[in-house]
Amino acid sequence: MIRIFESGDELSAAIADEMLLHLRKDPRPVFCLASGSTPQASYAKFAALAKEEPRLSQLRIVSLDEWVGIERTSEGSCYGMLDADLFSRLPIDPGAIAFFDGTSADLQRECERIDSCIAHGPITFSLMGIGMNGHIGLNEPGLPVLDRSSVVRLSSTTREVAQKYFDHPTELDFGITLGLGQIAASKRVVVAAVGRKKASIVRTILTRPEADLPAQKLLGHSHIDFYLDAEAASELEANVTE
Ligand code: F6R
Repeated sequence: MIRIFESGDELSAAIADEMLLHLRKDPRPVFCLASGSTPQASYAKFAALAKEEPRLSQLRIVSLDEWVGIERTSEGSCYGMLDADLFSRLPIDPGAIAFFDGTSADLQRECERIDSCIAHGPITFSLMGIGMNGHIGLNEPGLPVLDRSSVVRLSSTTREVAQKYFDHPTELDFGITLGLGQIAASKRVVVAAVGRKKASIVRTILTRPEADLPAQKLLGHSHIDFYLDAEAASELEANVTE
């Protein structure tokens, strides 16, 4: 389903409510969360709602992705962004967070380590953003749908756009990411896009199936919804979301 919200604020509130619902209702909540600009407001709202929630002690986090070669202490690392936007605001045991180490000398083992975290129980809630090139996590256009994590070469769009996360020019060549198949196997997935900048890629995703973009592979599943704010949906004809 595609849901359009009047504002980014409404969209973020709906996502935060849903995160809280899953935290409370899933017997063993496992969240897989995108970093970046899109979910920041949702995380702030969720942190405010869940601050004193006893079920937080049951929550486990599984890494979605990370930049290869970037220390987790870097402010632009996926871990660094999630830490600033969410982890640091809540009493989450660091041992309950399984995150890719993009600086590991053995990235293949990193993939296996994170894969093993979801081998015995699914992710219960995933929140994804959409890249300017239609990527999900760091599953770039042209990659097959994988049921395992992998190291991927970043597209030029991703490398350029990601500079916004760093305060100095940063060389990014590869990423490490969960596979699209693993994300789609989550019990519940919300894919979010906010802002005018996302309007064109959102239109391509929803109206040009031949583009064959990663985000398009998440369309048409009953447990996966796309949440757009009015700006991200501004290039869509009304009939696209009917
Ligand atoms: C980040 C991630 C990426 C972003 C996407 C959108 O962990 O998985 O796929 O969700 O690039 O980024 P923003 O939200 O910064 O526009």
